[in-house]
Formats: sequence, structure tokens, C-alpha cells
Amino acid sequence: MKNIQKIKGTQDILPDISAKWQYIEKTVRTIMRRYGYNEIRTPMFEVTDLFARGIGQLTDIVSKEMYTFLDRSKKSITLRPEGTAPVMRAYLENNLGEARPVQKLYYISPMFRQENPQAGRLRQFHQFGVECIGPQAPEADVETIMVGLDIYRELGLKNFTVKINSVGDAESRIAYKAQLQEFLKPSFAQLCPTCQQRYETNPMRILDCKNEACNALIMDAPRILDALTSDARAHFDKVLALLDQNEVTYEIDHRLVRGLDYYTYTAYEFIGGSLGAQNALGGGGRYDLLAEEIGAKKQTCAVGFAAGIERLIMAMESENLFPELQAGVDVFIATFGGATQDAGFKLAHDLRKQNISTLTELMGRSLKAQMREANRSGARFALILGEDELRTRRASLKNLANSDQKEVDLNQIAEEIKSQLQSNQAR
Ligand code: HAM
Repeated sequence: MKNIQKIKGTQDILPDISAKWQYIEKTVRTIMRRYGYNEIRTPMFEVTDLFARGIGQLTDIVSKEMYTFLDRSKKSITLRPEGTAPVMRAYLENNLGEARPVQKLYYISPMFRQENPQAGRLRQFHQFGVECIGPQAPEADVETIMVGLDIYRELGLKNFTVKINSVGDAESRIAYKAQLQEFLKPSFAQLCPTCQQRYETNPMRILDCKNEACNALIMDAPRILDALTSDARAHFDKVLALLDQNEVTYEIDHRLVRGLDYYTYTAYEFIGGSLGAQNALGGGGRYDLLAEEIGAKKQTCAVGFAAGIERLIMAMESENLFPELQAGVDVFIATFGGATQDAGFKLAHDLRKQNISTLTELMGRSLKAQMREANRSGARFALILGEDELRTRRASLKNLANSDQKEVDLNQIAEEIKSQLQSNQAR
């Protein structure tokens, strides 16, 4: 049989890389707590309708990227391509708004989109994200931006920018779409085939088309900020004022529209400077109409963002930001088979009970091979347990970093390791 390999666009996160993931996840959780966000975990798959209606039929995600299939009962199921619609569904289904008028929820989860894989674009990728459900106030928009910024700052990331725009309310958008269509009408034939389709259905998406011809055509297009209703304008002005007051540097990007249909008012992105074509580290905005779209009886305001973890790792690697992530065990016990192996196994059990991470030999290898294994495992100490050591109840504990050796009573091993580890940390 042919070797079975992983599916295109998926990744195995191997042990040396997973330490980086844990480091990022820990920072994310620390900052979420600082802002009073609580974790929510929703299912990996949902009924297809949640996304088709929630994200919008015309978005690239729904029209060509979803992993949708019929289950055995012929129900249409979709692996979640993003977290916002599921979180809103869970919020509504569990009446979370009744419990607390402001719900601040966060997630760290895998998402699935059948895109063409390339650097920074995967079919299974991971996001951390927040959804602040309830408030209409611009402070909530700004707070979500600050959560993202604090996470990047805490991780040491420097090479990125915040881009922001307003996509207005429904009324602003109707007016703006008409203006944009009017402006593009004479050059319709020069638009790329995708944008020709978008012209009727979703003309605002033409603004962020990557095609050069479309790019040139929309250089002088009317700007949505000039078409905002006074209400939408006031909201945006307050967001900008709060960003200024709180020392957040940003760029207004008139062409930022985002790829999902649910946005209203504020839209923003974190753009990585070192990432190449897929340079969006994260993005989000306000989505006051999504809840009703998926069945809420009344308007439910909300704002949030999500950020890709794979792209963050790439950005952090390019800025060399990962510290030495020590994952090695405390001690490796080398033995010589027979009684020594049993004694080593029991000693490991006793040490682990005292929270000392311990490896023992499981392959019956030579001492030399075991010492090589000890070094490979990143163990800080090695303990050699032979017949003599068992008889005298003393063994030598070798510090693998500096090769210092100390003879220790077998009953004192745990104390000795703990005290050496402590004095190492103190140094
Ligand atoms: P999004 O812009 O579709 O927004 O995705 C957010 C981030 O997820 C992107 O900026 C990128 O870092 C990462 N990402 C997206 N697709 C891929 C992929 N194929 N491979 C690797 N990384 C990817 C959302 O998902 C919204 N739910 C954000 C949001 C939350 N809006 C309001 N609340």
C-alpha cells in the first residue's frame, strides 16, 4: 500500500514546534484574563446554514472554501471556517445575554478552509480570537484592538501595523455601493472576471482585489468614509479619538473592507511587515447585524477579531522572538538490566511523585547509547544505577550541562536534584 500522508494544507505540529504554540497560547490566555475575557469552546462542525447565512453566500469562504459534506443522515454539515458565527450561535442558543449584558468571550481553535495552500495559507489553521457581545459603544471596538496589540506586544512583535476603516451601517453601504458602481461603470470591461461578478453582487469587495488592473482602476474611487451616515461617522470618529488618547498608532485604509459580509461600522486588520503575500496577521470589526441574520429576535451588537497563529509564528520567527523553550526532563536514569532496571523503574516512580520529571531506559541499550539518549532528551542530570550502586545505596548524579558529578545517597536523590535546580535558577 502507498504511504499514507497528511492532507494538503494541513500540518503536523511536532514536539519541537509545539513548545512555541504553548508559549503563544499561554500569552494569549494571560492577556485575555487581563481584559476579563472568558474562554468559550464551540463544536468543530456546525450545520452549514449557520455559515451560509451568517458569513454571507457571496463571500469567497462560503462560495468556494468550505468543507461541507452530508453526514449519514443526509444533513449538511460544515467544518467551521471561522469562529464568530459559531460563538454568536452559542451565545443565542444558551441565552448568555440574559446572564450578563456584556459577554466577553475568547477562543483558541482550529479552523478549516479549502484554500490553495501557500506560505501562511493553510486548510487547517488556528486562530485566537475575541468576541465582545452586547455593547454598541465605540469603547468596545477599541478594547478589542487593544487586546490584539497587547498580545503582539507581550510577545515582542514590532514589525506590524494596525489598519482601520469604517464599512458603515446598512444605509451608508447602500449609498456607497451605488456611488462605486457609478464610478466603475465606464471601466467595467477592464475589471477582472471576478470583479465583474462582484460589480453587481458585492462591489465593495472590488476595493481589495489584488489584480493589478482592478487596483489601478480603483485608485481614485469614491471613499466610503465620505458616504457614511452621521451616526456611522460619529462612531468612527469616536473610535479614532479613543485610539489617539490611548497611544495606539494606526493607518486609515480606505480600501479595507474585509472578506466576510457581516461587518458594520468599524473594520480593522493587523498587518505583518515580514509576511509576504499573506500578510494579514489578524482582522476583525463590528458586526451588529449577524445575530439577527442567524435567528435572533432583536438586534445584538458585537465586535471582535481573530488572528492566525501560524502567521504569528512566522512573524515571530522572522524577528527571532522565541526564547529558549526548555522542554527537557530533569533526570535520566541509566541502568544495566535485571535488578538495576527494576530499581531504576521504581526510583523513577518515586521521583515523579515528587514532581521531578524522569526518564528511564526502556530499550535495554548499552550505557553509551543511554547517555546519548540522555543528552538528546535534554535531561539536566543523569544518574547511573549499576549493581554497585544498588549495593552501596549511593550513585553519582551527573550534571549534563557542565559534567559535574556528585555522589548522592539514593534516598536523597530528589532533594539533591531539587536543590541543584533551584540554585541553577537563582543564578
Ligand atoms: P479572517 O480575516 O477571515 O477573519 O481571519 C482572521 C485571521 O485568520 C487572518 O487575518 C489570518 O491571520 C488567519 N487566517 C485566515 N485564513 C487563513 C488560512 N487559510 N491559513 C492561515 N491563516 C488564516 C475571521 O475569521 C473573523 N471571524 C474575525 C472576526 C472575529 N471578526 C469579528 N470577530
